[in-house]
Amino acid sequence: MSEFTYYKNWQLMVDEENIVHLSIDKLDASTNVLSSDVMRELDLALAEIKATQPRGLLIDSAKSNGFIAGADVAEFKQIKTRDQAFEFIRYGQGILDKLEALPFPTVSLIDGFCVGGGLELALACRYRVATEDSRTRMGLPEVKLGIHPGFGGTMRLNRLIGGIAAMDLMLSGRTVQARKAKKLGMIDHLVPKRHLLTAGLNMIKDQPEQQKLSSLKALASNNSISRLMLARQFRKQVAKHAKQNQYPAPYALIDLWQNHVSSDSDMLTAEAESVAELVISDTSKNLVKVFFLQERMKALGIEKDYMTNKKNPGHIHVIGAGVMGGDIAAWCVVQGFTVTLQDQKPELIAPALKRAKKLFTRKFKQKHLLMSAFDRLHPDHNGLGIEKADIVIEAIVEDIDIKQDLYKAIEPRLKADAILATNTSSIELEALSSCLKNPQRLVGIHFFNPIPKMQLVEVVSGENTEQKTIDRAITFVRRIDRLPLPVKSSPGFLVNRILMPYLLEAVELLVEGNSAETIDQAATDFGMPMGPITLADTVGLDICLSVATILGEKMHISVPEKLQQMVKQNRLGKKNRKGFYDYDDKGNPIKTPGNIKERPTALLADRMVLRILNESMACLREGIVEDTELLDAGMVFGTGFAPFTGGPMNYLNHRGREATLQRLKDLEETHGSRFKPDPAW
Ligand code: NAI
Repeated sequence: MSEFTYYKNWQLMVDEENIVHLSIDKLDASTNVLSSDVMRELDLALAEIKATQPRGLLIDSAKSNGFIAGADVAEFKQIKTRDQAFEFIRYGQGILDKLEALPFPTVSLIDGFCVGGGLELALACRYRVATEDSRTRMGLPEVKLGIHPGFGGTMRLNRLIGGIAAMDLMLSGRTVQARKAKKLGMIDHLVPKRHLLTAGLNMIKDQPEQQKLSSLKALASNNSISRLMLARQFRKQVAKHAKQNQYPAPYALIDLWQNHVSSDSDMLTAEAESVAELVISDTSKNLVKVFFLQERMKALGIEKDYMTNKKNPGHIHVIGAGVMGGDIAAWCVVQGFTVTLQDQKPELIAPALKRAKKLFTRKFKQKHLLMSAFDRLHPDHNGLGIEKADIVIEAIVEDIDIKQDLYKAIEPRLKADAILATNTSSIELEALSSCLKNPQRLVGIHFFNPIPKMQLVEVVSGENTEQKTIDRAITFVRRIDRLPLPVKSSPGFLVNRILMPYLLEAVELLVEGNSAETIDQAATDFGMPMGPITLADTVGLDICLSVATILGEKMHISVPEKLQQMVKQNRLGKKNRKGFYDYDDKGNPIKTPGNIKERPTALLADRMVLRILNESMACLREGIVEDTELLDAGMVFGTGFAPFTGGPMNYLNHRGREATLQRLKDLEETHGSRFKPDPAW
């Protein structure tokens, strides 16, 4: 006879062999997270289990999407003081200590994601068994929220797989598939899903020796001298991507690791102290905000039944196999769709197929998955896929006449409920759709380059676009695992429109005699992932000029003479190795550090950033985007705008609206009308 105990978030069952099965099933939630309520009940359940003296304990998830996604990030917002945070973290650590100390074998059964606090819980078990499913991923991504692991993960992962691998995972925040986790020594057994339970039961019955760190790995990272040396290396690596004053968490993690070689319990206390400090910092609060912005975009207007049929999710037809169309097609294939890819001639499709092969090989390590991806991508220069397609994505040259000729030719062939989507980056939808009999079905799905890297996709609606078309476009963007940002059709939509004044201001600064290196440094010191001069070179100066000209005409922005000269002199940027910078054979800009004359002043950054803020205000006033939060989301995920600030509008709130407005007025006086505050201020 089996006995059951039900908690709100856990189910506890004792089987005939006196083995306890504890399943997490967080109440009223689609995903398991370790909220304080869940932790409190785990504490009670562990006490109950210990008292019954079972033969062993299995912990799994009752939800099919995964094991445990980590701490409950929503609760971070309620933490007001360091002491409050410290107390909660110590409480959580104490519970996992109790789990670890149970006098019988404990096994976590992992299927699907197992990250953050979820992995910390699994690490406190004696054994870990995982499914070989590609959905099964593990990691400690806390740095992405401005903290580091706090429930003993820093100590336990280090102990299990050694400092070098553990720190690499924690500092990057990346997750790894179960196969890789097995190789690293994080899990004991990798099995097909149907064997998960049996494998767990066998671990309890056989009690094999626990995973142990090889003496070589221990020697490499578990003494104070090697840690001192490695910590220096880690700091150097981290500094390439994150400044300590902006992202303190990875640095705090390195300090913690370096300073606690000999005592696990001291390390746990220090871990809690460190996370308690970090979690109340502005950086963490802003990164948590960015996390919720992402969640909001993920949840936008999803149509539940659209493109969900596993066997036949829908057919996508892409027209234009150039830089964008080719990569859009390949990305949709990676996400499981069947795609036909059209261009004027077969040889124009060939380069896209070559790039697709590279992407597929990177994404699919198992041969059958790779072959099946190739099977889903069909070159189709005759456009036979148009009649079958649920979505036709147009990504041909940026020319309204050519686009309209195409639309007129294909409209009669579209399925009755098919969406026609354009990847145009600058032409307004109303103008494009004027040639269509049914303009309601045209929507913009504006991807950013490079597609596999850039998560954001603007979903652009014109005056005629039907709501159903918009909803389906948003749903489609989610189905291909990108973040949809609904915007209104207007020059440059949201992201390019706000970015352009920033790039043009950088060119103005150059004209005034500042070196490219100084300007780039000012922006990266502010927190941008890449300086604006390097960014302009990367996008291509001809493309920048054409977008700036279109935007300039419609919004009365003047385009610096310098940009036009550069294009005339065939200095197009990275693509022909001559732009504002010269480029070496590998395509890296040749920068001269000596050109940074002095530490870039706040003024340089201010001039560029204030143009972003002013344009953001204009976009909000015009209703290009629904609200400040979505604007912040667009800029963080579309341009990499300093995530630690939480986005431009969050940055503005923090900086103070009145003071910023005054600064803008001062700049208008000294530098002219391009700094004129938008009426929205
Ligand atoms: P591209 O020049 O690399 O590719 C365009 C392709 O369309 C060419 O292969 C051409 O042969 C083909 N084409 C032209 N007319 C055609 C027709 N009637 N039927 C079939 N194929 C035809 O251009 P790219 O850069 O891929 O841009 C495509 C669209 O995406 C443009 O609207 C552009 O504004 C937009 N876009 C471009 C971005 C970029 O970074 N390159 C970023 C976001 C949007």
